[in-house]
Amino acid sequence: MSLVLLTHPLPEDWIASLRGRVELLIGPESPVGFSPELLERLPEAEGLLTLLTDRVDEALLARAPRLRVVSNMAVGVDNVDVAACTRRGIPVGNTPGVLADATADLTLALLLAAARGIFQAAADARQGRWTTWSPTGWLGADLAGAVVGIVGMGQIGRAVARRVHGFGARIVYVNPSPRPQVEAVLGAERVPLERLLRESDFVTLHCPLNAETRHLIDADALRAMKPTAVLVNAARGAVVDTTALVQALRERWIAAAALDVTDPEPLPPEHPLYHLPNCLITPHIGSATHGTRRRMAEIACENLLAGLEGRRLPHCVNPEVYDEG
Ligand code: DGY
Repeated sequence: MSLVLLTHPLPEDWIASLRGRVELLIGPESPVGFSPELLERLPEAEGLLTLLTDRVDEALLARAPRLRVVSNMAVGVDNVDVAACTRRGIPVGNTPGVLADATADLTLALLLAAARGIFQAAADARQGRWTTWSPTGWLGADLAGAVVGIVGMGQIGRAVARRVHGFGARIVYVNPSPRPQVEAVLGAERVPLERLLRESDFVTLHCPLNAETRHLIDADALRAMKPTAVLVNAARGAVVDTTALVQALRERWIAAAALDVTDPEPLPPEHPLYHLPNCLITPHIGSATHGTRRRMAEIACENLLAGLEGRRLPHCVNPEVYDEG
């Protein structure tokens, strides 16, 4: 049986399809990444089942000469050196589609919470500062009639677009290619990033992290946004320049940020972002629903088994490995 390294325990029923078909070595709850015991078995490993917190780079691959598949339990694969895998003919699997609705739901929760100052208002109520109904107290922003700028119109971006359209917002978007369907059905308009930043009341990020998108939202981008705008990041922390964001929130270049992802991750408790009243942070929970996480694990197992059995991965981010073979 092929040896598979799973870096972190997963509920038994999520990985049931692997039982009896592979020899599974499972890492400990912590630390994140490959434990010393897993690293020791790398030379024999034929499959890796990884999380987005595990780095799969040249150095690791060099220690795994028998490796035939890397299956990442995430849609994002920025933790994997995909080019290095491709050079070795190793297919890399991911889990697209199944997390779009859960991540879009969380995006809307963050966006609305930031727009309406829900966390501050709830804290005020709990701490006795709700002394009367105040006509000018706890005022927030409307989503109906607002312009929502969506950066990255993949499956998650489209799920967000459908939701904000339902709230009566106008959509502008940035994407490498046009999306005729969202334009026709939701009236979305593809615009250059500069225009999206200038015009949007809400800017929400749903692009992959790569060389082009790292620090896409830097000091210049933040300065280009409206002082009343809200930034939402449910993609990857490093799409935003964290240092610039701290300054932007402190000096009110923008009104607020709601972040499900940060750079670094996890964000240390002493980080200045936690001390800004206009910044809301959740611990990378976009896909964290029971059904979604289970489905992600099941798809990761399907990809893994396909790779080990010499079949095409149902969800492969480097299909060129098959052309070369
Ligand atoms: C992913 O799959 O890339 C998400 O970030 C997990 O929530």
